[in-house]
Amino acid sequence: MHFLNLYKMYKNRINKKLFYTLNQLPFQKSNLLKAMKYSVCSESKRLRSSLVYLTGEVFQINIVTLDVISTAIECIHSYSLIHDDLPCMDNDNFRRGKISCHIKYGESTSLLAGDALQSLAFNILSKSFMPNVSNFKRIKMISELSSSIGSSGMCIGQNLDLESEKKELSLSELQSINFYKTAFLMRASVRLVYLSSSNFSQSVLSILDLFSSSIGLAFQIQDDILDFKKDSIKVQDNKIIKKNTYPLIIGLDKSRKKIKNLYEKSFLALESLKKKILILIC
Ligand code: IPE
Ligand code: IPE
Ligand code: MG
Ligand code: MG
Repeated sequence: MHFLNLYKMYKNRINKKLFYTLNQLPFQKSNLLKAMKYSVCSESKRLRSSLVYLTGEVFQINIVTLDVISTAIECIHSYSLIHDDLPCMDNDNFRRGKISCHIKYGESTSLLAGDALQSLAFNILSKSFMPNVSNFKRIKMISELSSSIGSSGMCIGQNLDLESEKKELSLSELQSINFYKTAFLMRASVRLVYLSSSNFSQSVLSILDLFSSSIGLAFQIQDDILDFKKDSIKVQDNKIIKKNTYPLIIGLDKSRKKIKNLYEKSFLALESLKKKILILIC
């Protein structure tokens, strides 16, 4: 199937799963539920889910397991965006083509909507049926996701990102922030699928990590280029804050070259994955 059709199929599938999951929860009329649905069920590229389904194709993982993983990952992603937009974070009034969750529902409800989405992700991952996934594998998956988004993953990335606004950053410091705040969740999306498979090889995991991290880093630079073009600046306490980003530090051309370089790295990783899988099958 052509990649774009495949992508549309994945996107429709995860959108339906997310609607269904959120509609099953109690307190549907509460502002908390409305805020959760407002954020999760709005237009998104569903990139992380696509990584889940694509990785699942490679390792022939049951689609039901992939649905569980993508639903959990998308809940985490939406939670991170709700919190990222709060006035104490990036202070952004718009998200996914609409006003941000805190503008629509207020800060306290948005904070709680983010919290509830994070809990929901772990609830889904810990109790949903996943064919052929033993409890041992399930615990490994939960452990992987929790460490990828916490104080040694996405949260430390967000923290370093916010603190970096007050200082100059070297490129390697910036790369490390992008790695934690963005690439870690993409890496986890791929890792969780691989952890659910029946075989495990450290060398395959390293190749998958190289692929997903390169995509994740490239993605954040592209996101910063788009924001840069929109001339996006953060205003906090009436002060204008310029975010440390690749385009700001090295300019647009060099940033685009960096993206190309990272994509090449990810393709090379896929090439060596193909060879590795052939060796493991033979
Ligand atoms: C936005 O992620 C936040 C970043 C990590 C740059 P996406 O651009 O994937 O957000 P949606 O899901 O498509 O809205
Ligand atoms: C968001 O990064 C990263 C997370 C939410 C973890 P940014 O703050 O750079 O992304 P946008 O531009 O708001 O989407
Ligand atoms: Mg941010
Ligand atoms: Mg932001």
